[in-house]
Amino acid sequence: MIDRLSRRGFLGAIAAACCVPARLSAAGLEIRVFKNPDCGCCSAWIEILEAEGFQVQQANVGQDELNRFKAISGVTEAMASCHTALVEGYVVEGHVPVAEIYRLLTERPDAVGLSVPGMPYGSPGMGPEAEREAYDVMLMRRDGSAEVYRHYEAA
Ligand code: CU
Ligand code: CU
Repeated sequence: MIDRLSRRGFLGAIAAACCVPARLSAAGLEIRVFKNPDCGCCSAWIEILEAEGFQVQQANVGQDELNRFKAISGVTEAMASCHTALVEGYVVEGHVPVAEIYRLLTERPDAVGLSVPGMPYGSPGMGPEAEREAYDVMLMRRDGSAEVYRHYEAA
């Protein structure tokens, strides 16, 4: 009887481990966001991260300094958006959905990080998702190239 119980406990533990969705918790994850102090949409994106449990540190910098920071961080002009964030050694440029940040930190590719170039309408912090236009989350490679990490359809 004891044997059966412990066996059930063991199988239960395996089931729990296998069937929990591969999703990190943002609790305690620090992310530093470099942004222009006049940018309202940056703050909207930051609020989404904070609601998710990220510990957000904001650094307000002038646009020239911000552009230089993007360049030295490996963000090309084609990949640039408004804010530039750093999390666990990765760059997160622009209005990247939280789900893709989790995927990045789970898969940990050898890359600069993620970008949503420009500021597509309906991306997180850029207006209602119900009116979203189609956009791509890009994976920025270290050689300056980029590839589609995930495509978001128009709503
Ligand atoms: Cu923005
Ligand atoms: Cu921004």
